[in-house]
Amino acid sequence: MAMKTPIIFANWKMNKTIGETKDYLDQFLDQASKYVGKVEIFILVPHTALAMAAFWTENSGVKVGSQNHFWEDFGPYTGEVSAAMVRDCGGRYGMVGHYERRLYFHESLDDFRRKAKAALRNQVIPVICIGESIEERQAAETESVIRKQIGVIFEGFTPSEVEACCLLYEPYWAAGAEKPAAPSEAQKAHWMIRNELRKRFGEGAAQKVKVLYGGSVRKDYVMDFLIQSDIDGVGVGRAGLDPDSFLRIIEAADSVAAD
Ligand code: PGA
Repeated sequence: MAMKTPIIFANWKMNKTIGETKDYLDQFLDQASKYVGKVEIFILVPHTALAMAAFWTENSGVKVGSQNHFWEDFGPYTGEVSAAMVRDCGGRYGMVGHYERRLYFHESLDDFRRKAKAALRNQVIPVICIGESIEERQAAETESVIRKQIGVIFEGFTPSEVEACCLLYEPYWAAGAEKPAAPSEAQKAHWMIRNELRKRFGEGAAQKVKVLYGGSVRKDYVMDFLIQSDIDGVGVGRAGLDPDSFLRIIEAADSVAAD
């Protein structure tokens, strides 16, 4: 089955010093070069390692990005890092709205909209996370939650801005868990996401926007997700911290793409 180029990324979260980043990339980049062009690969590293990670990955085809940024570009915002600074470091992607940002830092959907806009304004591709909690899932509210999140985050976006985004559907209950969501359940949510975007921004934007699945992805399940019609790739947490384990996921994605 021919399919589009799968997108696979790792989110390192608050892990790895600059030295550990170098060790990882030394082990990873040579092997990863086999898949570049067939699989789109990027790594979201801590801000402290971003400039060096961008330097070491230059010309490798593997991109790097950040896990969070502020919505203003410069100014009196002590302790913050802007999307302009992420771009300046060589970051090409910028995650927005990970559920840990909601959980520990009480960020809101309005914050995520402003951060996504800041990324677009600075030529950083926003990786916007959406997804429902376990309580919302149990109350059969997944669809209404998705509709609300999309409504608030994408308010005031143009269709071409939507197309330039990457979405990560990450149900909170599947992140850091034993097992991922069932691929068929994830597909259903991805379809809802595209359908909501279609209603608001038209067919073109809904087709072109990339929608990835995240939450306990392991190499054994990658194929089951990538064969779903509305899933363009996967985001990986724990399994992306080790270069070999991340490579096995990329290899599995490549084998699906090649089928
Ligand atoms: P996990 O993390 O793959 O370790 O579940 C995913 C995430 O929270 O981004």
